[in-house]
Amino acid sequence: MSTANRTPIVAGNWKMNLNREEAVALARTVASGSKGMQSVERVIFPAAAHLDAVRYSLAEVGTGGVQLGAQNTWHEPNGAFTGEISNEMIKDLGCGWLLTGHSERRHVVGEADDLVNAKTRAGLEAGLHVVLCIGETLEQREAGQTDAVNERQLRAGLEGVPRDALSRLVIAYEPVWAIGTGKTATPDDAQNAHHAVRKVLEALFGQQPATDMRVLYGGSVKPNNAADLFAQPDIDGGLIGGASLKADSFLAICQAVL
Ligand code: PGA
Repeated sequence: MSTANRTPIVAGNWKMNLNREEAVALARTVASGSKGMQSVERVIFPAAAHLDAVRYSLAEVGTGGVQLGAQNTWHEPNGAFTGEISNEMIKDLGCGWLLTGHSERRHVVGEADDLVNAKTRAGLEAGLHVVLCIGETLEQREAGQTDAVNERQLRAGLEGVPRDALSRLVIAYEPVWAIGTGKTATPDDAQNAHHAVRKVLEALFGQQPATDMRVLYGGSVKPNNAADLFAQPDIDGGLIGGASLKADSFLAICQAVL
């Protein structure tokens, strides 16, 4: 493979947690505590309801380089889509990033591959950075289907994605059984899955784009396991849920990638 020169990313997925005051306070602490960490991209994904408050608060105190993302959008630009928000709306709230295909959207809300694909393409078309999440369930893992599931979700999720958008595309491999459970893939298992993911990216887009693309690991990443995971050659940082809700653990995970 060609030489890799990938800037790592540590992203915090706050899910449906925190009230507005807590979200603003956490964002401010992360911004001030990580402002020296310019060699890792830091992105936070607060609940949609708090994006505005977080954005204005960070503008006041300085973002420290912390970027803002949305956990979900609808793929149409506007119209009769009750309860949804558009990519333009989240851009207007200061977001440069979007999550698609998160396992909770797939398995709790019921988003299928074609909807994940539509959201991924629309996010990229809107100029956002998109983190497409993939990963197998415990049942699929036990049946030896990890790589096959990841490949299917990648091929379906990335159908029709233009090459000129690839620099804004990030993949997050998050085994469903590891999310919020305290169970983490071993660094070796995660590396094997990431390597296979990169091979699929290579088959889809060619060697250089696959070499350049960041692939994050997610699923119970904590300060005590982050460094071993991030040391793997195909792991370019993490998507952090629970441990991103406390500034000290999120900052420790950012530190682990440096
Ligand atoms: P977790 O969540 O770190 O709490 O396992 C990760 C995620 O859902 O992105």
